[in-house]
Amino acid sequence: MPARVTSDAFIGRRVELAQLDAALTNARAGSAGLVFVAGESGVGKSRLTDHFAQRAKTAGARVLWGDCIDLGDSELPYAPIVSALRSLVRNGHPVFEALGSQRAELARLLPELGTPGDLVVEPYAGSAQGRLFELLLVLFERLSEESPVLLVIDDLHWADRSTRDFLAFLARNVCHQRLLVVSTFRVDELHRRHPLRPFLAEIERTERASRVPVERFTPAELSAQLTAILGTAPDDDLLDRVWSRSEGNPLFAEEILAAEREGDGTLPESLRDALMLRVEALGEVTQEALRWVSAAQRIDHDVLEEASALDPRALRDALREAVAHHVLSTQFDGRIAFRHALLREAVYDDLLPGEHAELHLRLARVLEARLDGSPCTGLDQAAEIAHHFDAAGDQPAALRTAVRAGATAERVHAEREAAVFYERALVLWDRVEDPEALAGCDHVDLLARAARAPQFDYSRCIHLLKSALAELDHEAEPGRAALLLERLGKARWSSGKGQLALEAWDAALGLLPAEPPSEERAQLLAAKAAGLMLWGRYADGRAMADEALAVADAVGSRRVRIHALNTKGVCLRGGEDTERGFAILREAMAMARADHDVDQLLRAYLNLSDALHLTGRTHEARELLIEGRREVRELGRHAKWLAIQQAEIAYDLGFWDEANELVPAELGRGTQGTTRVFYELTRASLAMGRGGHADARARLEVARDLVARSYEPQWHAPITAMLAGLERRERNIDAARAAIRTGLERLADTEAMDDGARLARIFSAAAGVEADAAQQARDLGRAGDEAAAIAAAHAYAEKAREAASRPFADATPEAAAMVLVADAEAAAATGTPDPQLWARAADAWAAIDRPFRVARVRWREAEARLTRGDRAGAERAGTDALALAQRLGAAWLVDELTALARRGRLRIQTPPAAVPAPDLDAADVPAVADPAAELGLTRRERDVLALVAQGRTNRQIGEALFMAEKTASVHVSRILAKLDVRSRTEAAAVAHRLGIEPSGDGAPVAAA
Ligand SMILES: Nc1ncnc2c1ncn2[C@@H]1O[C@H](COP(=O)(O)OP(=O)(O)OP(=O)(O)O)[C@@H](O)[C@H]1O
Ligand SMILES: [Mg+2]
Repeated sequence: MPARVTSDAFIGRRVELAQLDAALTNARAGSAGLVFVAGESGVGKSRLTDHFAQRAKTAGARVLWGDCIDLGDSELPYAPIVSALRSLVRNGHPVFEALGSQRAELARLLPELGTPGDLVVEPYAGSAQGRLFELLLVLFERLSEESPVLLVIDDLHWADRSTRDFLAFLARNVCHQRLLVVSTFRVDELHRRHPLRPFLAEIERTERASRVPVERFTPAELSAQLTAILGTAPDDDLLDRVWSRSEGNPLFAEEILAAEREGDGTLPESLRDALMLRVEALGEVTQEALRWVSAAQRIDHDVLEEASALDPRALRDALREAVAHHVLSTQFDGRIAFRHALLREAVYDDLLPGEHAELHLRLARVLEARLDGSPCTGLDQAAEIAHHFDAAGDQPAALRTAVRAGATAERVHAEREAAVFYERALVLWDRVEDPEALAGCDHVDLLARAARAPQFDYSRCIHLLKSALAELDHEAEPGRAALLLERLGKARWSSGKGQLALEAWDAALGLLPAEPPSEERAQLLAAKAAGLMLWGRYADGRAMADEALAVADAVGSRRVRIHALNTKGVCLRGGEDTERGFAILREAMAMARADHDVDQLLRAYLNLSDALHLTGRTHEARELLIEGRREVRELGRHAKWLAIQQAEIAYDLGFWDEANELVPAELGRGTQGTTRVFYELTRASLAMGRGGHADARARLEVARDLVARSYEPQWHAPITAMLAGLERRERNIDAARAAIRTGLERLADTEAMDDGARLARIFSAAAGVEADAAQQARDLGRAGDEAAAIAAAHAYAEKAREAASRPFADATPEAAAMVLVADAEAAAATGTPDPQLWARAADAWAAIDRPFRVARVRWREAEARLTRGDRAGAERAGTDALALAQRLGAAWLVDELTALARRGRLRIQTPPAAVPAPDLDAADVPAVADPAAELGLTRRERDVLALVAQGRTNRQIGEALFMAEKTASVHVSRILAKLDVRSRTEAAAVAHRLGIEPSGDGAPVAAA
């Protein structure tokens, strides 16, 4: 019996274990985390992780272990996740039962769970992979409710894309789960373009991720290792020799020691030599078997027997020998593999080129022959076979099996791997005889399949679909062309090219005959209806939805019916229609629930809550979302969108803490597409409310870029209104006007839009911008600009009124309130603000519970009253506004009110200590380069004016600026003349509007 090769005792690693223990403690306490154990090959990452996993298990954690395998260019989707979950499935863990209908979804990965559901490619359904991720997350979440879960992914450098994507998804989405994910990877494997590099760069930025580096042994540790292996302490000479060659790498040390003991007693020069020395010391047959295993990586005994054609008895002896010498070992699933990947690599690299091809070809054939007859091809087999044919250089077989592997990958929603297989098939297409027969499909079909996969790369997808359409004879095969066009439309929509999407759908509809009705036609009509709805073209959307419903009913498609009802419900608003719309959305919801159609169920919750919210039933909308999130979660879906919508509504209702919790900062990382837009917008609202202007700006800019080619008012209205508001606060009139212009341009056809409510929001914001512009022109004495701005403010107010009176908007109390605000802004533009108009707007907002809006409008009312000399009224309105602003934590508004009180010497209750510190990041950038200079103020006068703006008396100004009270008064008179205003209060208002503040230097301001 050969001597022991490894040390049973676990050596060293105190620090590393402490780090891992700490992460587990956090996870146990409900703060999930990801740890990356990093180090060179053979340094002891797996051993460390295994040791830690044993401890975790003893401490009550559930350990799920998954290995990644090296398949060269091929990939095996979800390999480690599947192997980690497999033991649970085998033991019949109840968590899978509890998944209900979602079980079929998971069966794509784990065929043991039953028959996978049909593969449906749904418009607007979001990515199928995304849904699988959510389902897996829910699964881990449920498991972790029972006991803390430790998920190990060993050898992450070989992981497939799906696994990497899933880990990235976990990093972004885990929070309170009792889950710890420990992944190991080789640092020496990460060449410059290794896919793990960008992955780690992204993931390690998140707070939940940390790294545990594993270093080589110290001489003392090496000595301990050798002692444990030998059973006695090594002599200094041996220790020296092993140290000098292994440099403390434990695997190298083991192999060098074993080679010395098994070989002729001389110590090998390199690890490779050491490994090969050990292999060469084994018998002929054993070495032959090792070559087979090195090509196969892991192999079933009977496959090895068949492929190698070795005498069964001799083979069994050979394997026994290899295992006894710690070269091969049996895996948990019964397959044979090398004890260590480096050993495999050494043997494989030692093969001659021709030998490689021969082994791979033989393996591919044996594996494929075994598949025949079994229809449910596992992805691992399909990918393995394709890999072996590819490695063998057999192009026809490689094409054939790549297509099959692509289809198998699609079944488990491994869209990216499927894309890799199909793209490889496309490359091979022209190199082989009769590719159609090999692939089992024509070139158009292959292009179409390849296009189904890269839904993460819309431009590739659009390119492939267009190539397919170009090759296809549309007249001969109208049905096929229509389906491709439908998908082209969808890809264009997702990439923000709405107009082109509609063109594609129209072309598709033109190809499909109305008679006899078909499900394809119904689906196209439904897709188009949803598009029109999202554009705010409710009348057209409703007509289209009705058409879709008629066709759907004619062919008996409940799926399309639910989809179309969901659209139609949104398109009904105003008068009795509002209630009918709600009823239709409820019907869609009930049907989706009955059919386990989670996508449409989600959509029904979103649409109904949005409709309730817009018609002023905001509290109800919030309740509905809470319920929806619960229901959807129970169905195995993480309802991010529903959470963001609840946050938006909570924000409007003044529940800012709730909103903040629902859209945590971490949620944004890596969130894609429109979900990202919605998220950024909601965070931007919060930031605007609290005065985090720089944060708000950054988020709004991200969102605006993402929807640059979309026509959807649900995005452009809030982005535009918020950006304009932000610029107004910072007194950048030009930039505010530019924001309005861009927003209106992006919406393209505002005339045809029925979503008057969102349009009114933009026009109302625009009226406000013009009011500020008029005031600034007045302050600076630019009469022409003033008149133009006043006219523009009135024109926008008129537009807001027109938009809000469109049939679909008249049921929207928000729109009505926006019109009142626009009117008040237009009046303010003239220089004689009307407090009554502001008061009416405040009442309108109060009626639908929008405290922050009330506060802002009441502030303007206070200002208007002050201008009119109604001090008591100003104090009342200001005090109301301040109370609300303080309750909400709207630091920015508290500031404005405090400044107003100071310069108007109003008694607005301001306990300054209670005021949250404002975020002053960018709030003090005036639009006019130097307004004081433009007004002809001297430097001294500017400083005086700044103090006037703070409500200081002449005596206080004199003290602050070291001048006589009399001098201060002379300065003030000159300033009033230059500003062309009659009172200090007016001068103060001008200074405030123009952003004139005490210059830090030379103007010490004594405490008031
Ligand atoms: N702390 C330790 N105590 C005792 N033996 C160890 C220790 N660390 C590593 N070894 C031994 O060294 C060898 C290599 O360790 P291991 O397989 O964990 O390396 P690895 O870093 O995972 O390598 P790879 O990158 O190739 O996966 C193993 O045989 C292992 O038993
Ligand atoms: Mg390892």
